[in-house]
Amino acid sequence: MIPKSPTQSRCRTTELVLPNDTNVLGNLMGGRLLYLMDICAAIAAQRHSNSTVVTAGVDNVDFQSAIKLGEVVILESVVNRAFTTSMETEINVWAEDTTTAKRRTCNRAFYTFVAVDQNGSPVPVPPIQPETDEQRERFEGAAQRRELRLILSGRLRLDGARHLHDHLAAVTGA
Ligand SMILES: CC(C)(COP(=O)(O)OP(=O)(O)OC[C@H]1O[C@@H](n2cnc3c(N)ncnc32)[C@H](O)[C@@H]1OP(=O)(O)O)[C@@H](O)C(=O)NCCC(=O)NCCS
Repeated sequence: MIPKSPTQSRCRTTELVLPNDTNVLGNLMGGRLLYLMDICAAIAAQRHSNSTVVTAGVDNVDFQSAIKLGEVVILESVVNRAFTTSMETEINVWAEDTTTAKRRTCNRAFYTFVAVDQNGSPVPVPPIQPETDEQRERFEGAAQRRELRLILSGRLRLDGARHLHDHLAAVTGA
């Protein structure tokens, strides 16, 4: 399959926080934000794979700053790395106060999507070809994060985590 750069499938979406999206404190509800993140991340994965995708897992969801009623939510997703049928998609979220034009970082997470056919069976996806230093860094990190999440979900044994072992050896010099 022909490799694609992360730039080709990147997705940026913008939403306005309305009363129906908020809790009693007037903040965007976590579940609503996760929904927006899932959609934005899935679009990048679908663009990369040109397939239907399903969410296999979500990790590192980190609510750093509440998003207020009336603020604009900016979401950007990028496929860091594609494996055989799965893809790690990173999503970053910012809030913008349009009265001051100030933006702040609110959230980051990693979504794993699997490309599937009409029967829901996994299908192969094209590899990622990183082009910038930032893309290369995310590409390298994705292999280690994948091993970590597969260990945590009981799908991989620690002694099979080659990328994690190589990384630890490089860091510790062992
Ligand atoms: C995700 C799903 C397709 C995996 O099916 P499966 O029969 O376990 O398939 P496989 O074991 O062949 O794994 C397929 C890929 O998923 C990855 N995967 C499976 N579970 C995972 C998890 N918890 N975290 C990360 N990756 C996972 C595997 O590593 C593999 O990746 P690779 O092909 O790139 O190596 C299946 O479990 C499923 O359909 N789950 C429900 C998805 C869903 O309903 N999501 C919410 C709505 S979209």
